[in-house]
Amino acid sequence: MDTIVIQPTGLEQAAELIQHGETVVFPTETVYGLGADATNPDAVLKIFKAKNRPADNPLIVHVSSLSMIEEVTSDFNEVAKTVAKHFMPGPITLVLKKAAHIPDAVSAGLPTVGVRFPKHPVARELITKAGTPISAPSANISGTVSATSFSDVYRELNGCVGGIVCGDDCEFGIESTVLDVTGEIPVILRPGSITLEMLQEILPKTRLHPSLIEGTEEKKPASPGMKYTHYSPKAEVVLVYGKMDTIISHFESHLDEQECLFLFSEEYDTFSKNKMCLGTKTDLSQMAHEIFRLLKRADLEGYQKIYIPAVEEKGIGLSIMNRLKKSSGGKVLSL
Ligand code: TXA
Ligand code: MG
Repeated sequence: MDTIVIQPTGLEQAAELIQHGETVVFPTETVYGLGADATNPDAVLKIFKAKNRPADNPLIVHVSSLSMIEEVTSDFNEVAKTVAKHFMPGPITLVLKKAAHIPDAVSAGLPTVGVRFPKHPVARELITKAGTPISAPSANISGTVSATSFSDVYRELNGCVGGIVCGDDCEFGIESTVLDVTGEIPVILRPGSITLEMLQEILPKTRLHPSLIEGTEEKKPASPGMKYTHYSPKAEVVLVYGKMDTIISHFESHLDEQECLFLFSEEYDTFSKNKMCLGTKTDLSQMAHEIFRLLKRADLEGYQKIYIPAVEEKGIGLSIMNRLKKSSGGKVLSL
């Protein structure tokens, strides 16, 4: 299929494609999204086809105002309103009871729907101009790494979608926090840039879904999407645990030609072999911003194996490690 590349100044064309039941890729502050009219079941099916996404994995519905949340859910409750007041628009998705007119294809048959009010001006303008909520998963082939730049998304989805909006690089770089607010206690189903600590400041009872806590017996995935292979580049990913100076000296003598080490800026200049920079370790939001882009770049450069230093699993570090544990399929190296 012919894919039209659309400038952010020409969103009328993108909105028309959405209104005609086509798919459009657009930038958000988290990752690029692959959108279609959330009220049109045929359009929604095109998303699943373009991504090769399993039909039992529900989509997030994107809105451009708080009042639009009322249209897609049947119970915009007080807990949800409190979260919305503090963090919307922004990188968070609320799981709420679904309104009857949202097709089953969107919610994968669940009685709930994930709703996100993005902060990105292009995403918001597109939804407003289309005049309909837009369901959108991350814009990547299922199982691969989410795209955070126009060039990455174009390489992966050109020819598979109706249009691609040529936007800027995504600010946060990892997908939104998914928070179940259907019960009295808010439960994080997928950690993101709005962290557990930030949510607990306004709703102290907020907790992580048991499957996200190391050492628990919970095997049931937090949300349907969490059971699938995810965030996998072509290269093998290995998480490395240990002190940074030990890691550096180990890889100075153990890194093959086809392998690459991801490093923080503090150590970057001291390492002489294949390397990519994660930003400073004193601000892990830089690592979140870079990580998906670097995984894709490592594939493009033909590396077979990527070593990534593990980070402390708190704050945004928890969200980064949630993605990297899936990328690595549990492969670790302790030094
Ligand atoms: O930042 C984001 O959330 C991006 C941008 C494009 O908005 N979207 C995104 O969508 O990451 P996707 O489809 O790649 O991930 C959505 C996650 C999946 O794990 C899915 O299973 C879960 O949210 N989810 C969606 N609706 C749900 C529901 N009703 N109940 C539980 N989990 C749900
Ligand atoms: Mg995704």
